[in-house]
Amino acid sequence: MTPRTPSTWLVTGASSGIGLALTRAAAARGDSVLAVARDVSGLRPLADEHGPRVLPVAADVRRQDEVDAAVSWAVEAFGRIDVVANNAGYGLFGAVEESTDEQARAVFDTNVFGVLNVLRATLPVLRAQRSGHVLQGSSYYGQVAHPGVGLTSATKYAVEGLTDALAGELEPLGIRVTLVEPGPTATAFGANLDVAGTLADYDPTVREVQKAIGELPPSAFDSPERVAAAVLAAVDADRPPLRLATGSTAVREIRTALQGRLAELDAWAATSEAVGTGAGARVDAATVS
Ligand SMILES: NC(=O)c1ccc[n+]([C@@H]2O[C@H](COP(=O)([O-])OP(=O)(O)OC[C@H]3O[C@@H](n4cnc5c(N)ncnc54)[C@H](OP(=O)(O)O)[C@@H]3O)[C@@H](O)[C@H]2O)c1
Repeated sequence: MTPRTPSTWLVTGASSGIGLALTRAAAARGDSVLAVARDVSGLRPLADEHGPRVLPVAADVRRQDEVDAAVSWAVEAFGRIDVVANNAGYGLFGAVEESTDEQARAVFDTNVFGVLNVLRATLPVLRAQRSGHVLQGSSYYGQVAHPGVGLTSATKYAVEGLTDALAGELEPLGIRVTLVEPGPTATAFGANLDVAGTLADYDPTVREVQKAIGELPPSAFDSPERVAAAVLAAVDADRPPLRLATGSTAVREIRTALQGRLAELDAWAATSEAVGTGAGARVDAATVS
């Protein structure tokens, strides 16, 4: 078997949870990682262990200038970027109505506009190489939404929508794209959660979900190391998936949601189709080219 050529990575949210596990796993197999977070002090031991193959760089994904500088570092240090893990993010819990304008905009700033900042900074490098793999940090909440996770899901659905288009745009340029959709994972996600107000009308729905999540046993959370192993398998695959769910909760919830959507589409198809044929119009890559 031909030995694998080591890859170079840029990982955001590398100081904790899934991003840290990914950074550790990539470094352990000989890859090089530019590890981005706002506070990179916790990455020092990993950098000491792997020397110049793990470069912690402090950057806030909400700041285009800081992301641009981090990407310049990666190119200067490694000469290229093979994998971009657009992973940094956090959750906002509360009823849709309860989230303040400030909280809603803040979570979009990191989870959606941060992702866009990273894409704008890294895609010129990947396009020039005509190669690379973009990992987009989504969630099972990118396909499913329960009471209380509306704003978190809104950010992940946004990432999923832009990524569906992105994949088609980048495929002809030799760049692969995978949405990573973890289920509940044992990270600092819960501790870093922003929580919106408390309207009593939402107690039977939102607070009940919150209580149920709070009462989950540790066994309900997947290990970030196993999420990282699944992501590495996707990165190494000849034909990586566009969507990679991790953990059986994510698989079960996404399957139920998709089956429900399909069943409803079929149940209402007669009404939907009675609206018109759209003259059979179809706009896709085949009709555009
Ligand atoms: N854990 C779960 O159950 C779960 C489930 C589904 C999806 N996810 C997704 O997985 C991704 C990773 O989350 P995690 O569970 O590993 O959470 P985590 O342990 O809280 O890690 C989040 C990481 O993101 C970084 N980060 C946050 N805001 C940032 C910003 N503005 N700029 C740069 N870095 C920032 C944090 O570092 P600094 O604070 O130092 O910047 C940290 O390294 C997120 O996108 C999350 O939505 C998690």
